[in-house]
Amino acid sequence: MYLCPEPKKLELKGGYYYFSVGEEPEIYEKVTPMLSHKESYRIIIDAKGVHIEGASNTGLYYARLTLKQIRMNYRGCLPYLYIYDEPEFSYRGFMIDSCRHFFTVDEIKKIIDGASLFKFNKFHFHLSDDQGFRVEIESYPLLTTVGSVRPSSDFGRGENDKNPYGGYYTKAELKEIVDYCGERFIEVIPEFDIPGHTSAVIAAYPELSCKGEKIEPKTTAGVFSDILCGGNSETLKMIKAVTDEMCEIFTGKYFHIGGDEAPKKNWNVCPVCKAKIEELSLKNSEELQGWLVNEVSLHLKKRCKKTICWNEAIKGGNVEHDSVTVAWWLDRTNATLNWANGGNPTIVESFTPYYADYPYGMHSLKSVYLYNPRKIKGLTSLGAASIVGVESPVWTEYIRDFKKLSQMCFPRWLAVADTGWNGNDNKNYPRFLKNVAFYCDILKEYGITCADESEWNILPHNKLSQMASFFGNVLSKDFVKQIL
Ligand code: ACM
Ligand code: ZN
Repeated sequence: MYLCPEPKKLELKGGYYYFSVGEEPEIYEKVTPMLSHKESYRIIIDAKGVHIEGASNTGLYYARLTLKQIRMNYRGCLPYLYIYDEPEFSYRGFMIDSCRHFFTVDEIKKIIDGASLFKFNKFHFHLSDDQGFRVEIESYPLLTTVGSVRPSSDFGRGENDKNPYGGYYTKAELKEIVDYCGERFIEVIPEFDIPGHTSAVIAAYPELSCKGEKIEPKTTAGVFSDILCGGNSETLKMIKAVTDEMCEIFTGKYFHIGGDEAPKKNWNVCPVCKAKIEELSLKNSEELQGWLVNEVSLHLKKRCKKTICWNEAIKGGNVEHDSVTVAWWLDRTNATLNWANGGNPTIVESFTPYYADYPYGMHSLKSVYLYNPRKIKGLTSLGAASIVGVESPVWTEYIRDFKKLSQMCFPRWLAVADTGWNGNDNKNYPRFLKNVAFYCDILKEYGITCADESEWNILPHNKLSQMASFFGNVLSKDFVKQIL
């Protein structure tokens, strides 16, 4: 039987419960709170029918989901069995960037359908970046009228486009996505990335940058020094207004405020930023970012939200420990390692191998499957215990259409889902591959095309050539060395 993630405990009892094709089996459901974990569940199939129990409605939902997978394996009968199951991690996430390229509500729903089949429970929606701001915001309307459209696209690799490119989600559309996820026990975590990756915001409101100059949303990939002015009180006012409107749409527990790749070139010479650093007796501009994180997360806390930020946001060392969860993607300074080892909540989104926008030659299916988020070099046992979960992001500079998006994510997200649910104790790659082959066929019915099997694990000597053709000359040699 092909199941993914595989349940913690599965005993086949021999024999089958039969029902006529076209008829439904007898299913008895109940909630049994004494099961150990909120998401845990049990399934018993015997001569009397199917009995499913969850520790809560969430557990019951996962029981139904496993039963759905079991039923995909059989027609007209179900094997007698006993299953007990519970997840290793409470945070099992996937991220889609709809800024570099925009995906419609229907496309997003298809990916959600695919991810939900494998028990992901967090959809991190990257909605603001240099190349486009994608959420309707009434109090700052230029964010979409100006900030959602870039004049052209120049991401390289021969697919440049001289035409304007834009798109945004209305509040009603976003609520539709939140509801769609809610039915699948998935929380949508919106990201408003600040203070960096904000060229589109600055295009709309140039007065919020240090220089105050008019710019356009970016047309290329990269890290840009046009960032929001950290010392300007109007910046904080805008952030609070935008997060407030987003909190009304996104009703979950977490809110992501980005914080990655925010070069301080402008902050270091801006009189307003320098004055704020002095006023607050901060040491430097990294601490100014830390102060901003604290201010925003306090604001979010009043709206009953927990803040997530990318790991660069804690570089200053002054982010309050009880207020944020750190998304660990690339820890250049050990600040994140120390954060986790200090017992602070951390989500593992390691660039290698979890970034799903990179070719399989770099982040092979096997490497994603075998990656152990609790065994990152330097993690202590407290650090390992601070890992609340895993997430695989897909950035879309080089992903222009839905088919490509599907192929980059699937089947790698089955591997992430397996680790999210089962951890790394009982990995069996050959068995996993059989499950993957089975579900790649099922995903076709969901409108999702998986990467071809020939790509899943590229041989080492083909890696560099695949990378070269994938990236062209857009990555610096230093970066390539760092990630290989
Ligand atoms: C990131 O990849 N800049 C979070
Ligand atoms: Zn400034």
